[in-house]
Amino acid sequence: MTTVICPGSFDPVTNGHRDIITRASRMFDRVIALVVINVAKTPSFTADERVKMLRKSTAHLPNVEIDSYHGLLADYVREKGAVAICKGLRAMSDFEYEFQMALTNKKLVPEAETIFLTTRSENMYLNSSMVKQVASFGGEITDFVPKEVHDDIRAKLCNQPAIKET
Ligand code: PNS
Repeated sequence: MTTVICPGSFDPVTNGHRDIITRASRMFDRVIALVVINVAKTPSFTADERVKMLRKSTAHLPNVEIDSYHGLLADYVREKGAVAICKGLRAMSDFEYEFQMALTNKKLVPEAETIFLTTRSENMYLNSSMVKQVASFGGEITDFVPKEVHDDIRAKLCNQPAIKET
């Protein structure tokens, strides 16, 4: 059984993230979408909220699990026996940082590969910061985030009531 880790801040999950997780789920037996807790960042959503939103967004994908982790990604990869780390690549601007992380992780956990899936053209411009900025000013985020978490994001960032989790 092959396991892949899709790590990220997911603050919050976007359509771009979900697309990468979905495509990884067709390539590997088991996908773990991992909310990595980065103490250097001040997230808008708690780790628990980010995990819940990822769960809602991927509930239809039977081989996808959600977890959170505070520590070195390489240690988590080894602990789970994952064969790869999967990341999305939007543009050249992502490349240098991602390349640096991939090389570091290769040193730390040589048995795992980092693979990059190119973002769909419609998600090229998307990132979590942009979603947060639009939502915080009351702008429409329907085209940017999974519909299952749209109201949760608006509720948190625009002070509107959230729909109940089903
Ligand atoms: O969504 P992001 O913020 O681009 O994700 C970055 C993330 C969480 C994948 C990266 O910061 C990470 O792996 N952090 C864990 C700490 C670690 O392992 N650092 C060394 C590898 S460069």
